[in-house]
Amino acid sequence: MRLGVNIDHVATVRQARRTFEPSPVFAALIAQQAGADQITLHLREDRRHIQDRDLELIKELVNIPVNLEMAPVEEMRQIALRVKPDRVTLVPERREEITTEGGLDVSSLMEHLREFIKPFKEEGIEVSFFVDPQIKQIEASKGVGADAVELHTGTFANLWNEHKFDQAEIELQRIREAAELARNLGLRVYAGHGLTYHNVKEIVKLSDVIEELNIGHSIVANAVIFGFERAVKEMINLIRSGK
Ligand code: PXP
Repeated sequence: MRLGVNIDHVATVRQARRTFEPSPVFAALIAQQAGADQITLHLREDRRHIQDRDLELIKELVNIPVNLEMAPVEEMRQIALRVKPDRVTLVPERREEITTEGGLDVSSLMEHLREFIKPFKEEGIEVSFFVDPQIKQIEASKGVGADAVELHTGTFANLWNEHKFDQAEIELQRIREAAELARNLGLRVYAGHGLTYHNVKEIVKLSDVIEELNIGHSIVANAVIFGFERAVKEMINLIRSGK
């Protein structure tokens, strides 16, 4: 399985002060250096974390594929066609949500999506839909002409985190069946959302049908904790040395 590292929440910390640090561009380069297979980022309509300039710089500086998550709206399409990421992942977006709360309802948006993705196909940009692991969404994604689906693992992750392991197992089977159907239809299959250092081992069991995971919050959260001691010590050194 490949790993796409989502660096959105590095930008969330920066935007808390609207300053220059920490830089998601720097984080993307470090992720690349650490062996990530892809950089994933979500340019939201409200720009709450990633900014347009971050996307431009990341596309310019990073050598691994860039996966742009975006709502299927005209403003984002124009930006994506200008910056040309390697892949666009279409996601639903509501301003009041804390994070992407469900998959894209492809089956209700088929006509819009068929037209919307045409220029990406012409430009050779891979098109993926972020969908719930439901048969009708997989079939609709194929019907519209997507190249890939990213299966929403959020429900599984929430159940597992709450120690509802029996229900989590049922959801895992749902993800497997959706992944198998998608593969049989010729779609590439990715997954993500809510995966952590604890629950990822369950999704790794699906590595025969899922080729890539996109993980963000947990990696950023752990980076803050792993790096905290060093950061405090460096500040103490600066203060005590009187410089
Ligand atoms: N995949 C998609 C389509 C997403 O929208 C997100 C969240 O931005 C992720 C993966 C990563 O989710 P998390 O931050 O919970 O790891």
